[in-house]
Amino acid sequence: MEDPKTSNKKLEGKVAIITGGASGIGEATVHLFVDHGVRAIVIADIQDEKGEKLAASIGHRCACTYVHCDVTKEQDVESLVQSTIQQYGRLHIMFCNAGIMSKSLQTILEFDLPSYEKLFAINVGGVAASIKHAGRAMVKANTKGSIICTASIAASIGSDKHTDYVMSKNTVLALMRCAGTQLGPYGIRVNCVSPGPVATPLLCEVLGVGAEDAESSFANMFMLKNNGVMKVKHVADAVLFLASEESQFITGHNLVVDGGFQRHEGPK
Ligand SMILES: NC(=O)c1ccc[n+]([C@@H]2O[C@H](COP(=O)([O-])OP(=O)(O)OC[C@H]3O[C@@H](n4cnc5c(N)ncnc54)[C@H](O)[C@@H]3O)[C@@H](O)[C@H]2O)c1
Repeated sequence: MEDPKTSNKKLEGKVAIITGGASGIGEATVHLFVDHGVRAIVIADIQDEKGEKLAASIGHRCACTYVHCDVTKEQDVESLVQSTIQQYGRLHIMFCNAGIMSKSLQTILEFDLPSYEKLFAINVGGVAASIKHAGRAMVKANTKGSIICTASIAASIGSDKHTDYVMSKNTVLALMRCAGTQLGPYGIRVNCVSPGPVATPLLCEVLGVGAEDAESSFANMFMLKNNGVMKVKHVADAVLFLASEESQFITGHNLVVDGGFQRHEGPK
């Protein structure tokens, strides 16, 4: 292991789990965590082929496992955490990132309750189960760990559609604040990252366009100009900060990563 005083790697010796790690923001975070020297990383997802391929691509850079884990099944989440502890001894970082958007528009007048229930089971129930089992393992091992959840700027600005999604991300913020309060006495930090629109499969599928078109449709809505469009790496950088010792006195915080996104065209 490199000397942490001279190394610029921020996660040396750490063991991390990333839910929804096979794609998009989760996948970018897997790569960044590996670049920053994690000892072991566990990719948890339901896209087995993508997850296995990603784990194999990490090669010998660190220990890396793919685990099939449907976050709506508490038993899957519990086994995910237990197998991580059995294999790697500890859990320092839990990134609760798995999430979906409903296929229907979910305006309040057309609100589809079964879609809302499915979405809440993943976006809220899955995050609660992940915090619960990671928190229990950290408390048991006296690990001053870091738990990060993916919320969204949608939670704060609302939307003319996707009502269930906005509700779920607001609830994730509430969950993070409760968990942060309750786990603080054990030295465990709980924070959120709230991304603006970034062209991942989730967003492209909802918009029905490819990544390039998705990016150009949002390009004028960022306050920051001339800094390019928002990429998954921007979100992963914020997650890295919240996972690392650099944020060791930060908890209960919602870190917005959105280039100053405006729903309507920003300042000219
Ligand atoms: N892309 C954006 O613009 C944006 C903005 C704000 C927040 N987010 C949030 O970021 C997170 C990651 O999404 P993304 O944009 O990278 O999309 P993505 O579709 O690329 O990744 C989401 C991952 O979650 C996994 N997943 C879905 N259901 C699951 C389940 N039941 N159990 C385990 N894994 C499951 C998917 O298989 C996928 O790999 C989500 O929580 C999303 O709501 C995305």
